Amino acid sequence: MYEGRVTLLDHPMVQHKLSILRRSDTPTKLFREIVGELAMLEAYEATRDLPMEDVEIDTPMAHMTARQISGKKLVIVPILRAGLGMVDGVLEVVPAARVGHLGMERDEVTHVPRSYYAKLPANSDQREILLVDPMLATGGSAIMAVEFLRKAGVKKIKFLNIVASPEGIKALLDYDPDLHIYTCAIDERLSEDAYIIPGLGDAGDRIFGTK
Ligand code: PRP
Ligand code: URA
Repeated sequence: MYEGRVTLLDHPMVQHKLSILRRSDTPTKLFREIVGELAMLEAYEATRDLPMEDVEIDTPMAHMTARQISGKKLVIVPILRAGLGMVDGVLEVVPAARVGHLGMERDEVTHVPRSYYAKLPANSDQREILLVDPMLATGGSAIMAVEFLRKAGVKKIKFLNIVASPEGIKALLDYDPDLHIYTCAIDERLSEDAYIIPGLGDAGDRIFGTK
């Protein structure tokens, strides 16, 4: 149904790391490290189609026409808090990227997100955005983030996620027809409390050790 708009990273290394992430006995330090590693692998996949140009260079042996990435630098935008855990991993692949921040928190009862902070780098409307958040549950937070970015004039957005629910994927892709989602897993469903089942629990709490 969403053919071509969702990339599922089914590589064995990704799936192995994800299984460690899901385990309830994985400690905070390891959890944080694996979120970073998965973010790096997703960034590698998500930057596959970056525009390139020819460049004339000299190797120690000869002159040649080589290739380099063209265009403006990317912007990484984490949805706080949990998205912060993915930023360093993405920066491993695109070290010169700019970083914006969107602070959002779901209401524990209604599950509707509340925005509490927003800061984008200059000229973000002329740059490709990698929006990052490890969890896509109801889709409310990601939709609010995409709405903000579109209103700011951003044209190209890729959403880098680790675990998604089918409900969240549908809601987000229905909301924005031009968005592409990269994820490591599409799980079974949402719980009554809007947590992903089987999921990995509360990503923010597990990254920062707050529970
Ligand atoms: C979590 C998660 C996503 C959101 C996903 O954040 O990091 O941002 O929930 O749920 P949704 O798709 O139903 O909106 P949370 O609001 O718990 O904040 P935190 O990252 O600060 O813990
Ligand atoms: N946020 C999380 O961190 N985990 C879920 O399963 C749902 C929302």
